[in-house]
Amino acid sequence: PPVIGVIVQLGRHVKKNVRRSLERVATVASVAQESFRGIMIIKAFRMEEHQTARVLGELERLRKYMKRMIRADVAVGPLSEFVMALGVVVFMLLSGKRVQEGLMDGGDLVILYFALAAMLDPMRKLTSVNNAIQGSIASAERVFDFIDARPDLAEAHDAVALPRLGESLEFDRVHFAYPGAEDEVLHDVSFGVPKGSMAALVGFSGAGKTTLAKLVPRFYDPTRGRVLLDGIDLRAASLKSLRDQIGLVTQETILFDESIRENIACGCQDYTDEQIRRAATIAHAHDFIERLPHGYDSRIGEGGGTLSGGQRQRIAIARALVKDPSILILDEATSNLDTESERAIQRAIEESIVGRTTIVIAHRLSTILRADQIIVLDKGAIVEQGTHAELVRQNGLYSRLYEVQFASTPEAAQE
Ligand SMILES: Nc1ncnc2c1ncn2[C@@H]1O[C@H](COP(=O)(O)OP(=O)(O)O)[C@@H](O)[C@H]1O
Ligand SMILES: [Mg+2]
Repeated sequence: PPVIGVIVQLGRHVKKNVRRSLERVATVASVAQESFRGIMIIKAFRMEEHQTARVLGELERLRKYMKRMIRADVAVGPLSEFVMALGVVVFMLLSGKRVQEGLMDGGDLVILYFALAAMLDPMRKLTSVNNAIQGSIASAERVFDFIDARPDLAEAHDAVALPRLGESLEFDRVHFAYPGAEDEVLHDVSFGVPKGSMAALVGFSGAGKTTLAKLVPRFYDPTRGRVLLDGIDLRAASLKSLRDQIGLVTQETILFDESIRENIACGCQDYTDEQIRRAATIAHAHDFIERLPHGYDSRIGEGGGTLSGGQRQRIAIARALVKDPSILILDEATSNLDTESERAIQRAIEESIVGRTTIVIAHRLSTILRADQIIVLDKGAIVEQGTHAELVRQNGLYSRLYEVQFASTPEAAQE
């Protein structure tokens, strides 16, 4: 009987440890997941270092924990193998999804899997634990190196610092095909957005709206033609001077599991509380943030936790505004919000665009009516261009789109 008692005890002990280490793996995975989901935001806000540090911090915590467990002589061999296998499954699922959504290409995936394999093997040979885990952390660092390395395009060696936009943003006969793809996604797109005005991109899903918007922060370069800021080809400009003046709100709201303050400042220490509060106020987020128990220090729980969809969107808008960008790129969410959130978002957008040059991928009638020009994209080409009234009169694709996409929205009924 005493033997059985010991075995039961040991069993409980192991079980508890299994649960704890699974929790820690889950934390690492969730921070890594955020990094994949948020890759556009991370790039646009130049958060690479901040985010990599967070992932490595979590890995370090996991490593310390495993070390302690091993010292405590728990049956770690099979356990760690299980845990790592689980990690791999999570990574594969996440990265597979990324590729589908077009944020990573197949080449990236291969690199990622190699890095993971390199990470897994030393973990398996946990006999000389410390060395092995050190090695796996080095591999993990390589994984995040690749996040740093790949999507950024080369900067010209004599790159110029762009001054703040003074006249216009211009697309000049832009053609684009995604790397490795045969077919062009954009054909011969030309239009200008004068300083302080707003251009709305509309078109059916897959028309190329998001792709067009991605050329502005230079997530990609045109395959032919140019994107110009005050006449300067973006390829000649430094990425920092370009991205520092662009505020980006992606269609899917990406927030990180940190405080609201950190989310708005996107990992940058340079913003004062006053600047953060001002951005939140314009985004109509200040009031509800103040009402939270911890105000700006409230953490965004896993996936947004207690915040509503509309509140999350407004935090994302505040983040885009905190650097006082001259250019605002707004990919409006299509998801239906309740009427109150919808109004708050509408007001947030109205105030956010004041004094900025804005490109909005529009799904709201209110936004479209406000636009100085509407660009209608179909299969990658501009088919119509003008104001709402002009386009409705033309009775072409826009008026069809208008009936399908916009006229049925709740605001249209109120208009
Ligand atoms: N990363 C990518 N790699 C290859 N093709 C892509 C990628 N992203 C989008 N596409 C393709 O480009 C076309 C335009 O997509 P997108 O710009 O997202 O359209 P929209 O925003 O108007 O719905 C679609 O055919 C889409 O499948
Ligand atoms: Mg899109």
